[in-house]
Amino acid sequence: MTQDSSAPGTQTAEKIDTSVPHSARIWNYWLGGKDNYPVDHQAGDAFHEIFPGITDLARDSRAFLGRAVRHLAGEAGIRQFLDIGTGLPTADNTHEIAQRVAPDARIVYVDNDPLVLTHAAALLTSAPEGVTDYIDADLHDPAAVLREAARTLDLSRPVALTLMQVSGHIADYDEARAIVRALMGALPPGSWFAFNDSVDTNKGNAEATRLYNESGAAPYYLRSPQELAGFFDGLELLAPGVVPITDWRPDPDTAPGVGDVIALGGVARKL
Ligand SMILES: C[S@@+](CC[C@H](N)C(=O)[O-])C[C@H]1O[C@@H](n2cnc3c(N)ncnc32)[C@H](O)[C@@H]1O
Repeated sequence: MTQDSSAPGTQTAEKIDTSVPHSARIWNYWLGGKDNYPVDHQAGDAFHEIFPGITDLARDSRAFLGRAVRHLAGEAGIRQFLDIGTGLPTADNTHEIAQRVAPDARIVYVDNDPLVLTHAAALLTSAPEGVTDYIDADLHDPAAVLREAARTLDLSRPVALTLMQVSGHIADYDEARAIVRALMGALPPGSWFAFNDSVDTNKGNAEATRLYNESGAAPYYLRSPQELAGFFDGLELLAPGVVPITDWRPDPDTAPGVGDVIALGGVARKL
């Protein structure tokens, strides 16, 4: 495992701040996980009260990740994955999905939350034929992410970059776009970009997010459908394009989205 400074343990545990809610922990709470604190329940419940659809979003985002990774490891034949904004380990983490299809797949996880770091061992259970690694790093610094990822991934060969419900943590849209351009720019043709994030057109989610951003948690910024589609500029979108995540190549058991669209996503190839 690659780390910035400290091993999981005492030093990292000291960095875990249970006085303010954290994105990864609230997300884990909405997914029904146990790796969260009372302050996260409070913020998560306050959000859910205004926008109950948030728990569907958390589940739908994981399911979209699963379908995208399955396609990439399967039909697209990708063997390397860079999953940034991983979140706390849950059922069907990226390496489990990819290695079910291709046991030799190599996966690098990246998150900047100290609690995710303490749980990283659960992300490092690679199939013997493949590899998983965890990097404690910040999406704001794509050069550092790429430098660390290159210890595990061969960046001269195609990589699938996945950014699921994390670009909204980058306040400035131009910076968020530049980060994606920097990451995809460092990957060779034949690489892929799988992405989803929340739209600003869902009134309930917008109001709940506005209040959430006053809770002390790292703020989240919703974007217009046009802005979200803009993350794919210069890449070749796979059908059906940038669509509500529940409509992206649904499985027979994928629950259709109800009410206003919450999140858009897509998968695209670098030519
Ligand atoms: C809403 S969760 C999404 C988790 C997962 N991608 C999913 O869809 O289930 C956002 C995750 O991004 C991480 N995160 C937030 N800002 C980040 C940053 N600047 N760099 C790396 N990770 C970040 C959080 O710690 C959290 O785990």
